[in-house]
Amino acid sequence: MRILFASSEAYSLVKTGGLADVSASLPAALRRRRQDVRLVLPGYPEACRNLVDATPRPGPDNAPWQLLEGRLPGTRVPVYLIDWPEYFQRAGNPYSASNGMDWPDNAQRFAGFARAIVALARDEAGLDWTPELIHLNDWQTGLVPLLLDPERTGIERPRTVFTIHNLAYQGLFPASTLQELNLPADLWHPEALEFHDQLSFMKAALVFADAITTVSPTYAREIQEPASGMGLDGVLRARAADLHGILNGVDYRDWDPARDRHIAARYSADDLAGKAANKAALQTRLGLEPDPDIPLLGHVGRMVEQKGVDLLHAACTPLLEAGRIQLALVGSGQKDLEHATGALARAYPGRVGVHIGYDEPLAHQIEAGADLFLMPSRFEPCGLNQLYSLRYGTPPVVHATGGLADTVVDATPDHLDAGTATGFSFSPDSVAALGGALERALGLYAARGDGRWEQLMRTGMARDFGWNASADAYLALYREQLPRRSRRAKAASAL
Ligand code: ADP
Ligand code: GLC
Repeated sequence: MRILFASSEAYSLVKTGGLADVSASLPAALRRRRQDVRLVLPGYPEACRNLVDATPRPGPDNAPWQLLEGRLPGTRVPVYLIDWPEYFQRAGNPYSASNGMDWPDNAQRFAGFARAIVALARDEAGLDWTPELIHLNDWQTGLVPLLLDPERTGIERPRTVFTIHNLAYQGLFPASTLQELNLPADLWHPEALEFHDQLSFMKAALVFADAITTVSPTYAREIQEPASGMGLDGVLRARAADLHGILNGVDYRDWDPARDRHIAARYSADDLAGKAANKAALQTRLGLEPDPDIPLLGHVGRMVEQKGVDLLHAACTPLLEAGRIQLALVGSGQKDLEHATGALARAYPGRVGVHIGYDEPLAHQIEAGADLFLMPSRFEPCGLNQLYSLRYGTPPVVHATGGLADTVVDATPDHLDAGTATGFSFSPDSVAALGGALERALGLYAARGDGRWEQLMRTGMARDFGWNASADAYLALYREQLPRRSRRAKAASAL
C-alpha cells in the first residue's frame, strides 16, 4: 500500500517527545512489512542537517517551498522535508522559540505544512507517486482531512487516518485565523472547526478524518469521558465507531540494554551484572554519592503538568529527608517545574542529581542505572519511558491511567505469586497514593534477598512491546479504509 506518514517530528531528524519515536519506528516497521510508506516533515534546520542522502527537488510551480528528499537515518524509509524557509528555518524547537514561547505564526506554519502535504498527495510536485492513504499525527497535521474533504474538492482523494498522541495539545487559535487561513466560513460552527469561539486544528481532524486512532486502548476509552476528553469527548463519542486504541511499540534497536551504545555496561535478563556498573556510572555523572545499595529512582520527561513532576517532588521529599533514596532526573519544560526541580537538587546535594535540558544519552543512562522508574503522569496517552524501563530491568512506578494502565502489571501479592508483576501502579493521582506505591516498591527492594525483586525485573524485561502487533493493527485498519471498489477489485484480482 502507498502510505504517506505525516508528522511534525521524527527521531533522529528532530525530537521533542514520544511522537518522534513513534513517527520513526512505525514507518520503519511498516516498511519491513513491504509497504510503500514515505514520511513527510517540516524542513526544520536540524531535520535538514540529519537527513541521509539529502537531495533538493523543486516544489509545485509558484509554491513558496521546495522539497528535500532523502532517507530517515538508520532505515530505508524515504523522507520528504517541506523546505519552507519563512516558516521552518529558525532556531528553537518545532513549536516554540528558545524562550519557551510558542511561535506566534504557528497557525500559518502548520496550515502551510498541511497544504504542502495535500499538494504532495495530489502529486503537484511531480514525484510520480500518490498515496492511497495518509496517516496524520496530532494537531499540526489536523487540517489535512478537511482540505481533502471530497465534497469540497470533488476529486478522488486518499483516505485519512488521524492519530491522537495527546489530546491536551489541540492547536487552538483566535477566531480571526479562519479567514487568515482562507478556510471555508461555513465550517465555523461547533460541529466542525469552532471550539468555544476558537479555531481548532485538532477538531478539524476529528470531524473530517476517515478513521481516528489513539495510542492505547485505555486512553481511547478515557477521552470519550468528560473527565479526560478535554472538551472534545462529545466529538469523540460521536465518532466512537471510527475510533481505535492501538498501543505504541518500542524500537528495541534503540532501546535495549543488550546493545545500547549510550550506557556504561551492556546487560540482559541472562546476565544482569552490568546493571550495577550503570548505577555507579549514573551516580558519578550526576554527582550522587556512590552507593550500590541505596535505591536510586529515575525520571525522564517533559516538565509539564501532565507528567506529575510536582507529585514526584512531594512524595520523594520525606524519603530524601530520611536518606532512604537517591533521585536522578532529566527533563525540561515549564520554568516553574524546572526551578522546583533545581531547588530539590540544591536541598539534597549528593542525593538528587538533575539535568535540566534535553539529553538523549542521559535518558538511556537513567533507564539503565536507576533501580526504579517514576512516571506519576496525571494522564498518559501511551507513554514510552515505562516501556523502556521494563526492558531495562528498572520497574516502573506509574499512575494507573491511559497507556500506563495498559502496560504495567502491579506488584500485588497475587501478581507477585503468579510471576506476572512488572511494576507498581497507584490511583488516584495523589501524593499519598504515590507515596504508598513507593513504600511498597522500597519494601520489596529492601527484601531483595528473597528473589522477588529480581523476578519482577526479569518479568518486565521479558515482556515484548515491539512493533509487530501494533504495526499489523495499523495495517489492518489502513486496509479497511480503502474504498470498497478497490478492495473488491483487489480481491477479484487475487482469485
Ligand atoms: P511524551 O511524548 O508525552 O513526551 P513519552 O513517554 O511517550 O512521553 O515519550 C517521551 C520520549 O522523549 C522518550 O523517548 C524520552 O526518553 C524522551 N525525552 C523526554 N524528555 C527528555 C529529555 N529531557 N532528555 C532526553 N529525552 C527525553
Ligand atoms: C504523546 C503522549 C505520550 C505518547 C506519545 C507517543 O506525546 O504524551 O503518552 O507515548 O505521544 O504516542
